[in-house]
Amino acid sequence: MAHSPKIDFVGFKDIAPASKGRAAKAGGGTLAVLAGADLSFAPETAKILGAATVLIARAAATAKFKAHSGSALDLLAPEGLPFDRLIVIGTAKKNDKEEAAAPDFVSLGGAIMGRLDGQTKTTLVFDPKDAPADAAAAAADIMLGMRLRAYKFDLYKTKKKDEDKPSVDAHVSIAVADTAAAKRAAKNRDALAEGVTLARTLVNEPPNVLFPAAFADRAKELAKLGIVIDVLGEKELTKLGFRTLLGVGQGSDRESKVVIMRWNGAKNAKAKPVAFIGKGVCFDTGGISIKPAGGMEDMKGDMAGAACVVGLMQALALRKAKVNAIGAIGLVENMPDGKAQRPGDIVKSLSGQTVEIINTDAEGRLVLADVLWYVQDKYKPQFMVNLATLTGAILIALGNEYAGLFSNNDELSTRLSQAGTATGEKVWRMPLGPNYDKLLDSKFADMKHVGGRHAGSITAAQFLQRFVNGVPWAHLDIAGTGMASPASDINQSWGSGWGVRLLDRLVADHYEG
Ligand code: BES
Ligand code: MN
Ligand code: ZN
Repeated sequence: MAHSPKIDFVGFKDIAPASKGRAAKAGGGTLAVLAGADLSFAPETAKILGAATVLIARAAATAKFKAHSGSALDLLAPEGLPFDRLIVIGTAKKNDKEEAAAPDFVSLGGAIMGRLDGQTKTTLVFDPKDAPADAAAAAADIMLGMRLRAYKFDLYKTKKKDEDKPSVDAHVSIAVADTAAAKRAAKNRDALAEGVTLARTLVNEPPNVLFPAAFADRAKELAKLGIVIDVLGEKELTKLGFRTLLGVGQGSDRESKVVIMRWNGAKNAKAKPVAFIGKGVCFDTGGISIKPAGGMEDMKGDMAGAACVVGLMQALALRKAKVNAIGAIGLVENMPDGKAQRPGDIVKSLSGQTVEIINTDAEGRLVLADVLWYVQDKYKPQFMVNLATLTGAILIALGNEYAGLFSNNDELSTRLSQAGTATGEKVWRMPLGPNYDKLLDSKFADMKHVGGRHAGSITAAQFLQRFVNGVPWAHLDIAGTGMASPASDINQSWGSGWGVRLLDRLVADHYEG
């Protein structure tokens, strides 16, 4: 079901136009070419187009096509070109200062895939001159964007209409100057595409299929990549003292689980690991503080943080990242029931601190509190990054554009922000501070777990920070980015797989070697 179109790299000579004595025949599918500002073509593209450039110029004038990034000119291939269809894709782009800017090749690849009908063979010409810096990396980025765009979750649709048919059967050949270099660069991107695909699918799966034990089973499949997997069930969790996590799941018939995934890829086996922790609320009804009915079905995606961690671990293992990494996910279902937790309950967390439960719909932070504490205590990581669809308030603050970033460490924050800019999975740092922390003081316990209506995303983060013990830590609130994302060039899926590319980049840029 994870649709993967076939994408390969070929040399320019493999797609050379018919020369004298060899009649040009149609039937070659679609030819896609890139055009820069003022309808400029790179040399190899111009060569393949030959006389067709004249026709393109006329068509462009008629259609007012200016080769702006994101625009395309869709033509019947003219006589003499051994193709049926000719698409000219604009790449001309300006930055905020209105200066010419390099295209984002991942998005470009996605935009191209979005114009293919999925049935026909397509040849894309990519001249090294189309990429100012690294042509092989750019070609591989295009491939990544194409794969991300082609993803479609249709596992439960038994009647498929023709127009719904995704680009599954697409076969795209990207013609490049150096096929070996492009193939090398594509390897890491393939790993990344697999990771994003897995994360998206986990978010999209319905909650009757993907309950905590089923989610843990999917994570276990990563063992075949060399990831060491431990699954803790309620018996072990009770023994260990994960009481705030177990409290959330106690109203559910489904067993709560914690999954620890370990990838040991560093040269030094003893090198301190990096750690990623995910909120995995497989369904969030709100519990006794039950949510309104409208839109509650979206709460199947309340495990997007955990899905990202699993997708990331898969990507790291597939590309054999030279890092020791821990992925830890807390998997529960938040249900109302005679056995469910009540507002007013006081629970002792794994850290020993007591927590007064205020609103059982603020369950994510309770799940994370124990997992954060456990990971830092047991694995002594270099840093911890947690991801969680934690608060509706982050949607009010940042919408779907940025995830909220909360951190006790400037270096880690800067690195995350830079990785965000580089991948397009953007984060915006939000404040923390003692006056916010005070809002969690409780009459009856060490703290209450909700701080009131104001600054809801910040007080949620303050709560998490109380379970961080001196380790560099960042919390990403992905309620606005992990699910129900607006469609983009590279994502048409409800579950976006947000964070896999961001965190892979963070690791690749700073923590390998
Ligand atoms: N899972 C929700 C947050 C959420 C909201 C995620 C919308 C995605 C989209 C979380 O568990 C929750 O219910 N948070 C409450 C906290 C409140 C009770 C303090 C919220 O945001 O309203
Ligand atoms: Mn909730
Ligand atoms: Zn939730």
